[in-house]
Amino acid sequence: MIDLENLIPQWDGEYFLTRFDQQTRTWMFIAIHSSLLGVPTGGTRLKTYASSGEALHDAMRLARGMTQKFALIDVPRGGAKAVLAVPEDFDPAGRTELMCRYGLWLASLKGIFETGADLGTNSSDMDIISRHYAGVFGKSPGNRGAGDPGPETARGVFAGILASCQHRFGTDDLSGRKVLVQGMGSVGESLARLLLEAGGRVKFSDVDQSRVEWIQRKYGLPFIDPEKVYREPCDVFAPCATGGIINSKTIPQLKCSIVSGAANNQLEAPKDGEELYRRGILYAPDYVINAGGAIYLPAVEGWGWSVERARERILKIGDTLKKVFARSEASGISTARAAELEAEERLNRARSSEGGSGAS
Ligand code: PHE
Repeated sequence: MIDLENLIPQWDGEYFLTRFDQQTRTWMFIAIHSSLLGVPTGGTRLKTYASSGEALHDAMRLARGMTQKFALIDVPRGGAKAVLAVPEDFDPAGRTELMCRYGLWLASLKGIFETGADLGTNSSDMDIISRHYAGVFGKSPGNRGAGDPGPETARGVFAGILASCQHRFGTDDLSGRKVLVQGMGSVGESLARLLLEAGGRVKFSDVDQSRVEWIQRKYGLPFIDPEKVYREPCDVFAPCATGGIINSKTIPQLKCSIVSGAANNQLEAPKDGEELYRRGILYAPDYVINAGGAIYLPAVEGWGWSVERARERILKIGDTLKKVFARSEASGISTARAAELEAEERLNRARSSEGGSGAS
């Protein structure tokens, strides 16, 4: 059980806002972690949580990750995240109305938070929100949006896997490399396709049975039971589903050389990053490797960049990771810690040179 008395004071963000949607019994949280580098921005996640405290905790951690992500990839945005914690018996028929009310709430906040799709939400939801509020990324292409950024996020993860292999094995040739993709959603599937094209030997896992059958029919890939996924020997383990999967229970089971995947908040706690390092498993910090969407959406929808230019920029995620790996090696610290330090330094530079006013 989450203890709010401790959770709230321990968070290092700026503030959070909340509303309870009576009609659907949904807790809505917006966690504003930092406005230092620009308008606080982050996806809106829709999920059922064990409690409203868990939902707030998730929003707070994810918002912090967005601050670090934007700082490391040099996109002038602040970090934030929203969570719509729907009840277990949430009736999908009420979804449009819920998104409308959420959009109206955002509009009333006058631009302090901009959002986009995340786990559990999609471009159609963004279309609905955008009827009331313009600060929305990832609307559908028919509505002058860039659509689902999943495939672009996957390009960044792919670049990150190449950089990880280069660092660990001295070559980024993927032919014959065993990669296990956990979660075949929009990012996981696009990633699997890129890996296969590069000659990788891909296995996958997913908790959704219909998805498993569909993927097997489409690609004929070997399926690993979700219960056994952590024990499966592979070169690269690519978590592309939910967070918190790298923890004290799973780390001892891992038989991989690299953890490089798209999921947000992969580490259950900071100590798990240290433990991976101690065990000699190379970890690509999640908010660096999964930043493709956070580059693509502002670039294409906000700055008017072409898709090609945005993709070139996304591939640079590989270089950012190499910097993080080099720092980890040179200083004898974990890659998780090295990424934290890189982000902190970027934020501190902004604090001193921009006087905290930020740019957007
Ligand atoms: N949800 C994605 C992320 O966490 C993409 C996104 C980025 C959505 C920025 C909105 C704004 O990176």
